[in-house]
Amino acid sequence: MTAREALVALRGDLPQMLPGHVWLAGAGPGDPGLLTLDAIAGIVQADVIVHDALVDARVLALAGEGTRLEFAGKRGGRPSATQTDITRRLIELAQAGDRVLRLKGGDPFIFGRGGEEVLALAAAGIPFRVVPGITSGLAALAAASIPATMRGTNQAIVLATGHGAEDDTGLDWAALAQAAQPIVFYMAMRNLAVIADKLMRAGMPGATPVAVIGGASLAEERTLVSTLAEVAADVQSAGLAPPAIVVIGEIVRLRRRLKP
Ligand SMILES: C[S@@+](CC[C@H](N)C(=O)[O-])C[C@H]1O[C@@H](n2cnc3c(N)ncnc32)[C@H](O)[C@@H]1O
Repeated sequence: MTAREALVALRGDLPQMLPGHVWLAGAGPGDPGLLTLDAIAGIVQADVIVHDALVDARVLALAGEGTRLEFAGKRGGRPSATQTDITRRLIELAQAGDRVLRLKGGDPFIFGRGGEEVLALAAAGIPFRVVPGITSGLAALAAASIPATMRGTNQAIVLATGHGAEDDTGLDWAALAQAAQPIVFYMAMRNLAVIADKLMRAGMPGATPVAVIGGASLAEERTLVSTLAEVAADVQSAGLAPPAIVVIGEIVRLRRRLKP
């Protein structure tokens, strides 16, 4: 059975990707098992896939021989495409009549700049569809046996970016500390010491548990459990590298009961 036949058998139809249309799809955290069926439907129909660095090679390998792959992301050392370059390219490809799949790691609307891309497509009159993906924040918690919400432990969960944490303009650290709800940080590794310091200065106890989950769902997945006061030093001595999710809050203690 081909991928197309399997999709039709499972969904009852194959959602059609039309020439001149763009699908903005999430590829999940890496493991192809966490792809959605509609992301696969996009991969098998696209004329061109414009993808980010965090899209796993096994996912891209699902593309047919005639499908062009265009890299549009950050790659160590080399200049990366700007957001303006990327949206311009998506519009150009769609206007040329291609079926375009814009494939991003995780979910395209969670710290993936998907919002900017669909705003640009809408302004240019390009028809588009958004296919959500499993965001790495939630996949990482599942991988580390940390329930994202637990009755009696938390009533909310915050998804935050650590990018720009050193500026004084972004997050309201006092509100985050006082809310006493878990915070799932993306892109936090570079600013981990700053983040921990700002939360502790805002009143969050240094003993608050923290987990750092690197390479969630991938062969290199690693989890480190620490405290707010010690996490930056612990991550450094463990040599844990990005991509990683940092989760701060009482829910981290549940891991001990699930993974003794
Ligand atoms: C630009 S953001 C993209 C987030 C993505 N749109 C999502 O929903 O997961 C990149 C950040 O996502 C996180 N990330 C992506 N893939 C990951 C993975 N497999 N394991 C842990 N963190 C991951 C890291 O925090 C990384 O710095």
